Amino acid sequence: MNSIVLSKKQFYELKELVYRISGINLHEGKLELLKSKIAKRMRVTKKDFKAYLDYLKTDEHEVVEFIDTVTTNHSFFFRENRSIAYFIDQLAARPDAGRKMFQIWCAACSTGDEPYSIAVQMAAKNLRFNILATDISHTVLAAALRGIYRKDKLKNVPLPILHQYFQRGSGKYNGFVKIKKEIASHIRFERFNLITDPPPSERFDVISCRNVMIYFDMPTSERVVNKLYQSLQPQGYFAIGNAESLMNLEHRFKSIPKIPSLYTR
Ligand SMILES: C[S@@+](CC[C@H](N)C(=O)[O-])C[C@H]1O[C@@H](n2cnc3c(N)ncnc32)[C@H](O)[C@@H]1O
Repeated sequence: MNSIVLSKKQFYELKELVYRISGINLHEGKLELLKSKIAKRMRVTKKDFKAYLDYLKTDEHEVVEFIDTVTTNHSFFFRENRSIAYFIDQLAARPDAGRKMFQIWCAACSTGDEPYSIAVQMAAKNLRFNILATDISHTVLAAALRGIYRKDKLKNVPLPILHQYFQRGSGKYNGFVKIKKEIASHIRFERFNLITDPPPSERFDVISCRNVMIYFDMPTSERVVNKLYQSLQPQGYFAIGNAESLMNLEHRFKSIPKIPSLYTR
């Protein structure tokens, strides 16, 4: 239990702040989580409770740090891979596949598991590609750049891919693997807030935005989906998470029969 006492009013102020900046909708069930995160940030910033709350409301950088601690970053390699395998097969079947440089945007990339999973499968098909991998959290982007993972996060990776594109760690890195440079060099990691940042000017052949909209309410998801629509090439692919749906949202994506979490423009 946490010793911090957060009044309802303070909880709702924080909830509103997190919602405004990140789109994440914190429910009252998150009260204890919020308190432990505040306690953690109070220790880091060496402020007492009231001073920390005032600081949080006025310092944009601290809001970003705080949101970092309330977001769920869970991810693993080859997660929900059916839609990824499907769009990669479709890209590989295009008549221009041998010469085209495919542009892919992984729009809530967490620690990099998803963009690297896409990259190794694109590479295994000898496709040419660049991936823009973005997230709101600096912490996960730093981890993604390091590209070092506990082996249990790669349980779903087929062995030939594991051997070809990952280096096995030794010594203090025993039990870890590192993504090889030849794969990492295809990926650009950048901070991007789906709620507040304008869409990038480039158009992508694939946009993957998976397992983040589950934390958004419907109006927020609808805004995000329509923002991403603008950044997708005609006939491009749009992937969402298996637990997510575009049903009940106003959007112009076309669904793909039998591949529930994949859409085209
Ligand atoms: C559960 S992870 C999903 C990772 C990966 N896409 C997957 O499916 O395994 C959700 C990610 O969304 C990020 N996120 C949350 N709010 C965001 C926002 N407003 N803009 C961009 N990323 C956000 C979090 O930092 C977190 O890394």
